[in-house]
Amino acid sequence: MSKKEILKGENVHLSFGGVNALTDITFTVYDGEIFSIIGPNGAGKSSMFNVISGFYKPQRGRILFKGEDITKISPDQIAYKGMSRTFQNLELFKGMTVLENIMLGRHVHIKNNILADIFWFGKARNTEVEHRKVAENIIDFLEIENYRKKPVGMLPYGVQKRVELGRALALGGDIVLLDEPMAGMNLEEAEDMARFIIDINNEWKKTVVLIEHDMGVVMDLSNRLMVLNFGEKITEGTPEEVQKHPQVIEAYLGGEETVFLGR
Ligand SMILES: Nc1ncnc2c1ncn2[C@@H]1O[C@H](COP(=O)(O)OP(=O)(O)OP(=O)(O)O)[C@@H](O)[C@H]1O
Ligand SMILES: [Mg+2]
Repeated sequence: MSKKEILKGENVHLSFGGVNALTDITFTVYDGEIFSIIGPNGAGKSSMFNVISGFYKPQRGRILFKGEDITKISPDQIAYKGMSRTFQNLELFKGMTVLENIMLGRHVHIKNNILADIFWFGKARNTEVEHRKVAENIIDFLEIENYRKKPVGMLPYGVQKRVELGRALALGGDIVLLDEPMAGMNLEEAEDMARFIIDINNEWKKTVVLIEHDMGVVMDLSNRLMVLNFGEKITEGTPEEVQKHPQVIEAYLGGEETVFLGR
């Protein structure tokens, strides 16, 4: 694997009132890898996603994406630069169909091309067709063709999680952040999701940053990972390195090293 850096956090510090959600966190994600962030509830994982994707602005530190400092720019602009994400609590439009929700993932492109489209309105229709093609392709990939015209709110939770992934993929880009994509799923649904994540990484050549609680999944899927606990970074490294870290065994697993060996 190439060792080109794609995403970097440097001394990221974020607090809410007196609570330090993130304390001086530094990490590196390399191009092409699956990088996971793990840690107990309240460790700061989602907060880190929110900082990376521009939804939260840290009090100190910075985020570099493809070498550019993106700390102070808007989530929309960051998305346009090639970063997409899903949310821990689904952020779908329940009354809209699967296809419409996935098409929404294209909105940053539509918005950013609007001037060009005004000057040549014949082109606008072509662009619309192109956006639709991208969405349909993603629907096929995620095996949700049967639901494409159904309002999202009526669908099983596992399917809604796929739609959310679909919307993130529709944005395109080089990196996708997935906040607990398998949470609340049964084993079969979780295995399907794991397969999609592997394909996105291997075939679609996207870097994946993953938050996931299931240790078996994390250790199987990740090239490297970072462990957080109470807003502090405990360690960063390969699954083998991380599993051996005494503080990880102690603080995160309560001394139970065998948890990793469960699968
Ligand atoms: N918008 C916010 N306002 C106030 N406090 C917040 C906010 N977002 C996060 N926090 C606090 O920051 C800390 C980290 O929360 P965060 O959601 O990042 O944890 P997490 O690791 O994603 O946990 P979980 O595994 O439960 O999703 C918690 O103490 C949380 O209460
Ligand atoms: Mg979270």
